[in-house]
Amino acid sequence: MKSTGGSDAQKRAAGESAAEAVEDGAVVGLGTGSTAAHAIRAIGRKVDSGLDVRGIPTSFQSRELAKETGVPLTTLDEADTVDLAIDGADQFSGPHLVKGGGAAHAREKIVDAAADRLLVVADPSKAAKRLDHPVPVEVLPDARTTVAEKVRALGGSPTLRSAERKDGPVVTDNGNLVVDCEFGKIEAPAKLAADLSQLPGAVEHGLFVGMADEVHVGREDGVDVETF
Ligand code: A5P
Repeated sequence: MKSTGGSDAQKRAAGESAAEAVEDGAVVGLGTGSTAAHAIRAIGRKVDSGLDVRGIPTSFQSRELAKETGVPLTTLDEADTVDLAIDGADQFSGPHLVKGGGAAHAREKIVDAAADRLLVVADPSKAAKRLDHPVPVEVLPDARTTVAEKVRALGGSPTLRSAERKDGPVVTDNGNLVVDCEFGKIEAPAKLAADLSQLPGAVEHGLFVGMADEVHVGREDGVDVETF
């Protein structure tokens, strides 16, 4: 797993706080990353105590963890509704997020957008006044050069994400590549999101504009919950 800021205690506090919102009979989107993993484990403990829930994983990682912790799984095709999703973020500013540090943002966006409510779980290092984290863009392998050119034309600086324990690039769960795009301070997230969505061969980008309904920020001594 990639390493991110914040302590494990902060992440655990955030994940467990959001998991408290999971009610009997709920269908829950299961986010990806080290913070969402704490929520999945907490949901698994609720299942052990008799809660009836079904989870929709957003990645290989969250599917495996759900299986390991006993969370029954379903799919977007099978579920009538998704009551809530619990997911991490690389950075948040109010309800706006940058995601994709674990290259899972395409499936995360599909599941998070399908949910009635998105609860974001984060440690304090993820908070920003204004988003300035590089925006991951998942691209079809054939499109990596053309997407990179168009990102430069939008004022960004693209870098193909390299794998850490494999030679060559990161390959997503969907068999694509990731280009991390540095834009400095993102003054107009909705405009940038629309521009990135239009690039041919870009499967999905990691800007989640206005998508969070709640952000649970874990601290050593508690949790702050912001609602939008
Ligand atoms: C996965 O691609 C990401 O969107 C994660 O949700 C994000 O990177 C947060 O991960 P951590 O909770 O590990 O920081």
